[in-house]
Amino acid sequence: MQVPYFAFRDWPAGITQQVEQAVTGVLRGQQYILGPEVEAFETNFAKFLGAGYAVGVGNGFDALVLAMKAVGIVPGDEVILPANTFIATANAIVQLGATPVFAEPDAKTYNLKASTVEKLITSKTKAIVVVHLYGQACEMDEILQLCERYSLKLIEDAAQAHGATFLNQFAGSFGHAAAFSFYPTKNLGAIGDGGAVVTNDEAVAAFVTRYRNYGQTAKYQNDIVGINSRLDTLQAAVLDVKLRYLQQQNEERQRLAQVYLQELNQTGDLLLPISADHCSHVYHIFNIRTRLRDKLKEFLQQQGIQTAIHYPVPIHLQPAYHYLNYKSGDLPLSEELVNTSLSLPLFPGLTETEQDHIISCVKKFFAQTSD
Ligand SMILES: Cc1ncc(COP(=O)(O)O)c(C=O)c1O
Repeated sequence: MQVPYFAFRDWPAGITQQVEQAVTGVLRGQQYILGPEVEAFETNFAKFLGAGYAVGVGNGFDALVLAMKAVGIVPGDEVILPANTFIATANAIVQLGATPVFAEPDAKTYNLKASTVEKLITSKTKAIVVVHLYGQACEMDEILQLCERYSLKLIEDAAQAHGATFLNQFAGSFGHAAAFSFYPTKNLGAIGDGGAVVTNDEAVAAFVTRYRNYGQTAKYQNDIVGINSRLDTLQAAVLDVKLRYLQQQNEERQRLAQVYLQELNQTGDLLLPISADHCSHVYHIFNIRTRLRDKLKEFLQQQGIQTAIHYPVPIHLQPAYHYLNYKSGDLPLSEELVNTSLSLPLFPGLTETEQDHIISCVKKFFAQTSD
């Protein structure tokens, strides 16, 4: 049996047809840049999150750059972020001429913790970027207090956490601004690139709305030098359909995660995802850890099961970041995560037969290796 790491499946049944209808609607409407589809999605997404504004942009990376630019990150600033994230989080800081300062995550949740961040604050620190990693919302209370105490801006990288909550409040609605990605495999995914900046601050929303469209306030009136990073109309129409099913799809992800958690409990040396109090997890990624990661990955591959590694190289040790002078051993937990993490297939539409196969193969692997 072959099990893909991820597949686009018609789940819940009929969603594909609705997406196709949305695409046809845009094609026939012939409004291909911005327009009512983008506005409708922005309104609905902000409403869903309980946030003031959502502004659609070209992708998650641009959302991060624009969010940080909007809150005033300038060259020379230091911005603290977790070392264990997708490289886009760090690149966005560099794009603004600021310096990324990498923090170790919490050993249980792999998300940032206020206590670790506080040690890294200097007179140059302007902001903290939290990443709701793998789909688990960060514990936001202490981080918010820290930002308040040191007058820091708080940016949320919510690219993996559409619908995740802390104390029943949605990830992406806590900070001065948040960045979402709608990369196709995300919990809320487009059929191409897409992203959004979410904020409760009217001035931030107004800045991003202008900046993403060449700095225009009205046609041919440009008050600031902006860029072109508009959310594509076709993507907005598709996202608006898929947003209606986000909650249901997240619940299905959570159900599948519970099956893994129950069935793989106490298997070999496996470390399974741990949910922190009050933090919901929407399982964009189902991450497990074992010191036998490479062997397990290979074994599953032989059984036809595709897995992934998030992430195989820590950012601070990437050649692109040599200029920051980090060395091996500087961030031991982040480096250990790189060597032990494995992501199992988990997506809406994964069948019971497929999941049973994955579980029995993982168990078989550990039964054999402990012999
Ligand atoms: C944590 C994180 N931040 C940022 C991004 C960047 O998003 P995009 O690929 O839409 O530019 C991604 C995903 O790709 C991500 O996982």
